[in-house]
Amino acid sequence: MSVVQFVKVSAVAPEPDIVAEAAEVLRADGLVAFPTETVYGLGANALSDSAVAKIFHAKGRPARNPLIVHVADARMAARVVSHWPPVAERLAQAFWPGPLTMVLPRHPDVPAAVSAGLGAVGVRVPAHPVARALIEAAGCPVAAPSANPYMGVSPTRAGHVLRGMQDTPEPIFLLDGGEADVGLESTVLDLTGPVPTVLRPGGLPLEQLRQCLGEVRVLDAPVSAQALPSPGLARRHYAPRAKVFLVETMGELRRLVTQAQAEGGVVGVVSYSGPVSGVDDQVLLPAEPAGYARQLYASLHELDALGVEQIFIDLPPADLSWLAVHDRLRRAATS
Ligand code: TXA
Ligand code: MG
Repeated sequence: MSVVQFVKVSAVAPEPDIVAEAAEVLRADGLVAFPTETVYGLGANALSDSAVAKIFHAKGRPARNPLIVHVADARMAARVVSHWPPVAERLAQAFWPGPLTMVLPRHPDVPAAVSAGLGAVGVRVPAHPVARALIEAAGCPVAAPSANPYMGVSPTRAGHVLRGMQDTPEPIFLLDGGEADVGLESTVLDLTGPVPTVLRPGGLPLEQLRQCLGEVRVLDAPVSAQALPSPGLARRHYAPRAKVFLVETMGELRRLVTQAQAEGGVVGVVSYSGPVSGVDDQVLLPAEPAGYARQLYASLHELDALGVEQIFIDLPPADLSWLAVHDRLRRAATS
C-alpha cells in the first residue's frame, strides 16, 4: 500500500514550516518528491544506504541505474566527489544553479548504491527555490532521479507524480511547487575522461557548453541494450503508455493518422507545425526548442490520461538546438 502525502508550497518563497517538515522526512530516511527547474525529483538522503534503497524500490528501478546527487552549492558538491578539477569549478561558476549534472569521481562517503557501483557520481545544484530550500534545510546531499515509475515520462507537475506513483510501495511526501520551467532533464556531462562528454543531452544546450569549454563530445544514442555506454541510458525511456510514432512531414502525419483512425485506433497528435483536422486529442507545441521542451512531457502525460493509444509526432528540425528534444522523442518512440 502506498501513501503519497501532498502539500502545496510556494515556488518563489517556499514556506519555511513546510520545507522543514519535508527536510525532517529526508533526515528520517524517508522519500520526498520535489520540484526542480527541470522535472520533479524523488529525493532521499544520499549518504544513507537505506534511504537510497527506497528510491530504487519506489520506482521499480534496476540497481544498475545511477542516481544524481543534488547539492546546495559547489562547496557541497566538492564534498561528494573525491576530486574537484578546475573544469568543474569553471562549469559550476558558469551554469550552477541550473540544469547541468557533472559526473566526477565519487567520494567514499557516498554509498556505492547511489552510483550503481560506479566509481563516478553525478552531481548538480538545482535552481528551483523549493529544491534549494529543501537541500539546505535537510543539510545533506539529496539523491534524486525523476519522480516517475521506471522508464516512464518524467513529471513536470505534481499531478504527474501523483498519478504515476500512486501504487508505489514506499510512502512519499510530495511538495507541489507548480510547473517545472525547463521541462526536460538536466544535461549529463562526464568529466572523468580526457574530453568532456555529454552522456545525456538536456536542459543546458550543447552550444553553451561548447562556448564555455571548447571541445565537448556527444555520446551517440546506443543501438542496443548490450552496448549501453552509461548505465541508466536505456534506449526506451521517457515513454508514455501510448505508442509513439515519429514522422518527418505533416503530409505523412495526416496520412498515418487517417489510416490509424480508419483501423479504429484512438489517436492523438503532438505537433509544432499546426493543427490537424479531425483529431480531438492534439497538443500544439511552440516551434522553438525551449518552449517545446517545457511542454513536451506534459503533453504526453495529458494524452495518456485521455486514453489515447497512438501518438503521432512531427519531428522538429535536426538542428543542434533541438538535440535534447530529439533524444527524448527517439527514446519515447522506441518499443
Ligand atoms: O534533471 C534531472 O537530471 C532530474 C532532476 C530530478 O534533477 N533527474 C534525473 O535523474 O533525470 P534520472 O535518474 O532520471 O536520470 C539520471 C541519469 C541516469 O539515468 C544516468 O544516465 C546519468 O544520469 N547518470 C547519473 N549518474 C551517473 C554516473 N555516475 N555515471 C554515468 N551516468 C550517470
Ligand atoms: Mg528519469
